[in-house]
Amino acid sequence: MRSLVRTVSRLVYRNCVKPLFFRMSPDDAHDLVLGIMTKSQRFWVVRKIIQAMWAGPKKSSAVRDICGVKFSNPIGIAAGFDKNAVTLPFLNSIGCGFVTAGSVTLRLRPGNEKPWFHRLPESGSIIVHAGLPNKGINEVARNIKNNRDNIGSMVTILSVAVVAQSAGHTTESAIDDAIEVMERISRDELADMAEVNISCPNANDDQPFTQPGMLEKLLKAIDKLEYPLPVFIKMPSKSWEKFEKLIDIILKHNVQGVSIANLTTSRGIDLKDTIPDGVHGGLSGQPCFERSNELIEKTRKKCGKRLYIIGIGGVMSAGDAQVKIDAGADLVALISGLIFEGPQLIGEAAHKVR
Ligand SMILES: Cc1cc2nc3c(=O)[nH]c(=O)nc-3n(C[C@H](O)[C@H](O)[C@H](O)COP(=O)(O)O)c2cc1C
Repeated sequence: MRSLVRTVSRLVYRNCVKPLFFRMSPDDAHDLVLGIMTKSQRFWVVRKIIQAMWAGPKKSSAVRDICGVKFSNPIGIAAGFDKNAVTLPFLNSIGCGFVTAGSVTLRLRPGNEKPWFHRLPESGSIIVHAGLPNKGINEVARNIKNNRDNIGSMVTILSVAVVAQSAGHTTESAIDDAIEVMERISRDELADMAEVNISCPNANDDQPFTQPGMLEKLLKAIDKLEYPLPVFIKMPSKSWEKFEKLIDIILKHNVQGVSIANLTTSRGIDLKDTIPDGVHGGLSGQPCFERSNELIEKTRKKCGKRLYIIGIGGVMSAGDAQVKIDAGADLVALISGLIFEGPQLIGEAAHKVR
């Protein structure tokens, strides 16, 4: 019965809801969706109806134990959809095994000038040029605490951006800020894990922590956390040659996993849409799929069980999620699939993956 409801939901989303959203600018559509989610999740009955329609059903074969944290299923939301952790109860209702909230910084960050997003409808992709806007850890902590009672057993991962806060802010102080945020997450039990985002391609900082020397510095600071917690590193989408050098460094430190991967900046991929002049940023969705799968597979082969892997990039169906798991991912996270295919995708993938 639930799979029939999900099939109908997919058709309704594709043919009625998405065309309406896609008439709006992607920035407005994103704000509207977050608004609808935050308002509707306040009502217990709404959460229960959504859950009955789209989530689960829970099955023991879907459960994952990662660093002692129990995930009811391996499908979740990648960083960037809910930057300020305002929609966690809604995301729990649609059946997420986990949500990666953020990326968050120590202080409020306004991000780049808008528009932040550009849709490539035929290519199943969003070009993101947001520059890590978020309200800062204090407000995000408040949001998490306010919603804590309504997220069931869903796991929360908080993404921490390691980024210079403003011009003149050094890479050293970016590390200090990130460490302060991580100590806060762990000490105040804001999340079950931290995902350290070293790879935002649109923060206008040349991603210094994707360089081996700077990554080493950052990870040495993470090794010394006073309040340790499971740590994942959000990896850049790079060639295996460059990627492997970062993995070699990560393996020497107190890091439990890697999230593969962030947006791609490659413009060499065959796209069905043309990117207008003046549109900058990293691409999400289908253009990320193949590279991410390759990096997951090679990382698993190289590291065996030494690192957990969250597979991210271009998951548009339950079958795509299975491809990531078969390539070696322990968990799968997505954003673009939600935008292009609808919210029933999470429960569908959670139900179908092995
Ligand atoms: C709207 C949007 C905002 C994003 N913001 C962040 C972010 O703040 N931090 C981060 O680590 N990744 C961010 N990402 C990248 C995603 O987490 C993910 O790596 C990428 O979109 C590939 O997954 P997808 O194909 O399922 O969308 C963002 C992606 C999108 C589409």
